[in-house]
Amino acid sequence: MQTELSKKLGVEHAIFGFTPFPAVAAAISRAGGFGVLGAVRYTAPDDLKRDLDWIEAHVDGKPYGLDVVMPAKKVEGVTEADVEAMIPEGHRQFVNDTLAKYGVPELAEGEVSGWRITGWMEQVARNQLDVAFDYPIKLLANALGSPPVDVVERAHDRGVLVAALAGSARHARKHQEGGIDIVVAQGYEAGGHTGEIASMVLTPEVVDAVSPLPVLAAGGIGSGRQIAAALALGAQGVWLGSLWLTTTEAELPSPKLIEKLLAAESGDTVRSRALTGKPARQLRTEWTDAWDDPTGPGTLPMPLQGLLVAEAVSRIQKYEVEPLLGTPVGQIVGRMNSERSVQAVFDDLTRGFERAVDRVNRIAGRSGQ
Ligand SMILES: Cc1cc2nc3c(=O)[nH]c(=O)nc-3n(C[C@H](O)[C@H](O)[C@H](O)COP(=O)(O)O)c2cc1C
Repeated sequence: MQTELSKKLGVEHAIFGFTPFPAVAAAISRAGGFGVLGAVRYTAPDDLKRDLDWIEAHVDGKPYGLDVVMPAKKVEGVTEADVEAMIPEGHRQFVNDTLAKYGVPELAEGEVSGWRITGWMEQVARNQLDVAFDYPIKLLANALGSPPVDVVERAHDRGVLVAALAGSARHARKHQEGGIDIVVAQGYEAGGHTGEIASMVLTPEVVDAVSPLPVLAAGGIGSGRQIAAALALGAQGVWLGSLWLTTTEAELPSPKLIEKLLAAESGDTVRSRALTGKPARQLRTEWTDAWDDPTGPGTLPMPLQGLLVAEAVSRIQKYEVEPLLGTPVGQIVGRMNSERSVQAVFDDLTRGFERAVDRVNRIAGRSGQ
């Protein structure tokens, strides 16, 4: 499965995998795809360094990339304490009442939540880049907006391609004006922050809007058939996030969460502001229902909501409080029904792609070509 872009990056298959887990990123690249490590959780540069060292040691010299979160709106110069001070008391009370209703225990004395907002702050992302540029990364992706021009230049000086996620043709054109190299057109079905346009409509719209810039199709892809469809729509590859969550290499915080993902159907996700303040697709739970209930206080804007719920999310995960337990995941969760290795998932994707292409060739009267 070769496209101009996969050839340029030196990968066997034009399958890009976003993941927060180093072992998954390395396994995707080893399998012949392109693993991209999500950096948002690395607030300490040394932790990122440790995990990039690990990837380097386990990627067999194959190419990989890094994804940072530099929001379009800068929150520079603002500390977590400043953001804390902006959170209304009524919202804190709502969090406490909801946790009490489900009997969610407190964290241990001195234990801090693993999930912080600082990963979304520009300075933190810049510190991550200072670390990452010491490694032979081949791609830098940016979620939530166009990367700053100086970051694009810095990447290009090192021969690193720059990608940015877009949920509309308008966003994609803005990225293009900012000098990036690849647009990831991410549809409504996708896990994590999403726009409102479904991949079937979005992919060709973005392909046409930014041509000749290469586009990767993202959102709702979990089979070779869907990869074939995305390439038929004009994409130069696909970008998958959810599918890797139930691989054996993933390090999800709780076995109950894995069970929930394996059991979930495609209708069991919701696009909710409950996690970060911006619409993000995730498992629908009694926690998201509480935030989306019109009789409740409603969510706060980013980055307040993320800080407000950070400790609560850690408590729910630590104590595996089943009705509240969730994660960002896309509608493709309905097809994530068994735990398999990244290599097994990859084999399934590439074989399914070949079968889909054969089928279309037969329909087009080109069998045997
Ligand atoms: C658990 C999870 C976390 C995500 N976090 C990020 C992120 O930090 N940065 C980013 O660019 N995209 C993030 N995404 C979105 C992915 O990059 C990707 O676009 C999306 O998962 C593709 O759709 P799919 O989930 O249907 O495969 C996340 C997705 C998931 C499932």
